[in-house]
Amino acid sequence: MDQLDALKSKYLSAVSDAADEATLEELRVTAVGKKGEISLKMRELGKMTPEERQVAGPALNALKEEINSALSAKKSALADAALDERLKTEWLDVSMAGRPRRQGTIHPISQVTEEIVAIFASLGFAVAEGPQIENDYYNFDALNIAPEHPARQEHDTFYMHRDENDDRAPNVLRTHTSPVQIRHLEKHGAPCRIICPGRVYRADYDQTHTPMFHQYEGMCIDKDISMANLKWTLEEFCRAFFQVDDIELRFRASHFPFTEPSAEVDIRCSWAGGQLKIGEGNDWMEILGSGMVHPKVLAAGGVDTDIYQGFAFGMGIDRLAMLKYGIPDLRAFFDSDLRWLRNYGFASLDAPNLHGGISR
Ligand code: PHE
Repeated sequence: MDQLDALKSKYLSAVSDAADEATLEELRVTAVGKKGEISLKMRELGKMTPEERQVAGPALNALKEEINSALSAKKSALADAALDERLKTEWLDVSMAGRPRRQGTIHPISQVTEEIVAIFASLGFAVAEGPQIENDYYNFDALNIAPEHPARQEHDTFYMHRDENDDRAPNVLRTHTSPVQIRHLEKHGAPCRIICPGRVYRADYDQTHTPMFHQYEGMCIDKDISMANLKWTLEEFCRAFFQVDDIELRFRASHFPFTEPSAEVDIRCSWAGGQLKIGEGNDWMEILGSGMVHPKVLAAGGVDTDIYQGFAFGMGIDRLAMLKYGIPDLRAFFDSDLRWLRNYGFASLDAPNLHGGISR
């Protein structure tokens, strides 16, 4: 019996020390294999007396079973450990940032438009839109631009084709976003506070002009609106857009048929060292046209001019993008050159908002 105990402790401790499956298999063969130590002991049962056999038989069987179950327990423990080891080395961090190279980017025009919308939304302005193919009435007449008015020539208008026997005035590609003023007033009336970003067209092409470009119109009509409200609104916009606290705007008397009085607005800036700095220096840069909406325009929009008045302004979006992000040539905006787009484009998740930030 002592012999069996010795065998038992020898094999059980060998099993628990085994470091891999091959060692386990060797142990199995030497202990309980056909010619293993335990099996040989079992063969000796035949030579024993029946009394001896009655004791030794079950003891040997129990030992064999115990060793077998220790072997299989150890085998599955080793397999678990191997799996753990693999899981550790093959672990994949699914929250890891993606490849830094962006496939697509947001065009600066789209980005700046979003910035403008975010700023004006915070001031209570809604976004309004109108068609890019306009008729003569909305683009000119309703805005107090008579047929013989020089502004029609100044705008270098693109006229659409009309059949020879169609005597209506030809449609135009809108030359500014101002027609949206009329369309919006006709439909929604006063009071209103809107901005209208969109594409406009003029036959012009050089470093700062392309035949298609982007403007946004602002309009605010209510019972008690003055140039002071216009000035505050524009300053507030410039502060938020250029992210400079000390903004200074200069209003220069000007003329637009659809505003009275009219003003062109310049912003104080410096070009020292060829670098534009907004809000400092002794240069002035024109950034927009504006004024109090002409009573004829309000009337064309169906607004009662005894009760309501308000301001409007028009700003170039492309120009704002060039100034803010230091982009030198307007024409490149529309060349669809992938290298340019990768350089100047914005990440798609960088949507501007007042909490997260207007600029990237
Ligand atoms: N429509 C004018 C332009 O395109 C800008 C403007 C809009 C001026 C509204 C005054 C008021 O130049």
